[in-house]
Amino acid sequence: MTRLAILGSGNGTNAQQITEYFAGRGDVEVCCIVYNVKDAYIAERARKLGVEARYFGRKDFYETGAALAYLREKGADWVILAGFLWLVPPAMLEAFPGRIINIHPALLPAYGGKGMYGHHVHEAVVANHERESGITIHLVDQDYDRGTTLFQARCEVAPDDTPDSLAAKIHLLEKEHFPRVIDQTIHSGR
Ligand code: GAR
Repeated sequence: MTRLAILGSGNGTNAQQITEYFAGRGDVEVCCIVYNVKDAYIAERARKLGVEARYFGRKDFYETGAALAYLREKGADWVILAGFLWLVPPAMLEAFPGRIINIHPALLPAYGGKGMYGHHVHEAVVANHERESGITIHLVDQDYDRGTTLFQARCEVAPDDTPDSLAAKIHLLEKEHFPRVIDQTIHSGR
């Protein structure tokens, strides 16, 4: 069994889609959902999905190592960032070399870097009258949004798109591709 730990902080739509995609597969499972924003809806989704979820704060990630200890305890093989907005601590990068995957709601390297996440990305894309946006799924390294790209998908930004309507298009792309690209990546012999 290959075990995926999902790290998130928000609504948890991707966490849910990934969990449902692998449910009943027998070879891959989501072993836990870790979140770093108290009361995030991702915790409620985890409860409904029957996946163990646990909150860890800044100290647990960057000082005590409690978050990493938990991933080890759960036997995680891969770490999936689905709306996780902090830099991954060096010890976690070392523990999962080349085995941490992130999704970003834009066509990196455009609209990436510190502070560029979630709705901020869509607001910037619309404000700049871009004609297309998309998603980037990539391996994670010590910088924000810099690791090797595994996959990109594009969508049109229409002149009348708002940050909200663009976010809806992006969520559809995430739903269509993220679980599938995770599946391919973990079976690619990395
Ligand atoms: C997703 O759109 C994801 O691409 C984005 O956060 C959202 C999380 O939604 N990630 C980033 O911006 C990372 N820099 P979710 O909690 O509903 O899955």
